Amino acid sequence: MRKIVIAIDGPAGAGKSTVSKQVAKRLGLTYLDTGAMYRALALKAMRAGLTAEDGEAAAVLGDRTTISFGQGDPQAVYLDGEEVTSQIRLPEVGDFASALSVHSPVRRLLVKRQKEMVAAGGVVLEGRDVTTVVAPDADVRVFLTATLDERARRRCAELQARGTPASYEEVRAQIAERDHRDMTRDDSPLVLAPGVPELVTDGMSVDQVVSAIAAMAPTR
Ligand code: DC
Repeated sequence: MRKIVIAIDGPAGAGKSTVSKQVAKRLGLTYLDTGAMYRALALKAMRAGLTAEDGEAAAVLGDRTTISFGQGDPQAVYLDGEEVTSQIRLPEVGDFASALSVHSPVRRLLVKRQKEMVAAGGVVLEGRDVTTVVAPDADVRVFLTATLDERARRRCAELQARGTPASYEEVRAQIAERDHRDMTRDDSPLVLAPGVPELVTDGMSVDQVVSAIAAMAPTR
């Protein structure tokens, strides 16, 4: 029997990563962070001196690139065998990834790889197109979100905890900009697809969100 697939979609800062990792842990499934793949390819493109407008060139580069995952929390990410776990989290890499991800050749390449990783099942995957494009047939699909203010507050707390505090207004503006770009790109924009339940997590603890999603999983 095919093992289950849980797809968690939603905007930046909704808590997709935290929640997806914990759902995976609770249900004994593998966690797939699709955004990390866009970030890893962005890092490689930046190092190669490409601009974020060079979608075609980035896809060609990506074709010769291996992106893989290891263990740990944060989960280790490897770019051609080199560990880049913390480098891909730099804000400039995130911005580059967001801009690069509007290009269809880049999306085609990474979506193909993601579909291969999901085919065997037993996966919780997260990202801004996973309920619509990467895993539209997932057993469980959820659109995880929270108000812009709530997401900005959470991101600020996260940055503070990491020892890199940033101003609330700046963080809020960055998230709003990311939302706009992710929602208005032509190729597979971030969207709440018909039939996908929206979970607005303002006022919910991580544990409550994880339990709500785990409860949607079919029991076999
Ligand atoms: O989730 P994240 O912040 O790590 O993702 C970084 C960027 O990658 C995000 O701004 C848009 C892009 N992305 C995407 O287009 N599709 C995905 N499934 C995941 C990420």
